Order: sequence, then structure tokens, then C-alpha cells
Amino acid sequence: MTKELIRFGVSIEKNLLRQFDRLINEHGYQNRSEAIRDLIRDELVQQQWEDANAESVGTITLIYDHHVRELTELLTSVQHHYNAQIISTTHVHLDHDHCLEVILVRGKTETIRQISNQLTCLKGVKHGKLVTTTTGRNI
Ligand code: NI
Repeated sequence: MTKELIRFGVSIEKNLLRQFDRLINEHGYQNRSEAIRDLIRDELVQQQWEDANAESVGTITLIYDHHVRELTELLTSVQHHYNAQIISTTHVHLDHDHCLEVILVRGKTETIRQISNQLTCLKGVKHGKLVTTTTGRNI
């Protein structure tokens, strides 16, 4: 399906536009249109995450020390509990002590947040971050 493109004019202060051009240049955008489209999409995705029941996609990144007692068992049991939402998990043994885990999740935004919070707050998890994105539909 080809999407119809519509052109529209935007009035903007010279100084603001100069800063915008510098910003998009640093990000490697070829033109303003694609940069503006991405900004709008990002805002729409953020808004989608305000809706607890919206179907979303995210990644949870964890750094933890696998020597901490019962931590690996707890991480596994949380992931088994949410097996319907967890698409895949990638585990990397970073060094003698530390593990990196990236967990791909899909489901209601509220459930994804719950999964992320339950994993991140475990003792021994040194850093946890949920990256919130979208199924790509409607944007
Ligand atoms: Ni490991």
C-alpha cells in the first residue's frame, strides 16, 4: 500500500530552525521531512505508552552479577511466568561475574512495564533499562 504524501508549510523562528538543522545534521538526516516524520512518530509511540492497554513492543536490558544468591533462578521464574509476552532472550557472559541479558517483549504496555520492574528491582541486577517501542502499526 503506497501512502499518500501531503506537503504543508511550517512557520518557524530562524534561530529554532538553525538549531533543528544542526541537530538533524548530527543525526545524519538527509532532509527535514524525514527528521520531522521521525519526531512525530516518536511522539506517537510515547503517547501509545500512556495507554495501559495498548499493544506494544519493547526490549529489557539487564546487567547482573550471576553469583548473587538465587538471582538466576528468580530471573528465570519471572520470565517463565510471562512466557506469553516474552518473545526471546539473549544472554551474554560478559566476564567472570557479569551477564548481559536482552529480553524482547510484546504485549500490553502495562504488562511490559510490570515485567521490566520485576526483573530490574531484583537484588544483583546492577542496571536495567526498558526501551519502549512499537509494533509499527498506525505510524
Ligand atoms: Ni552469563
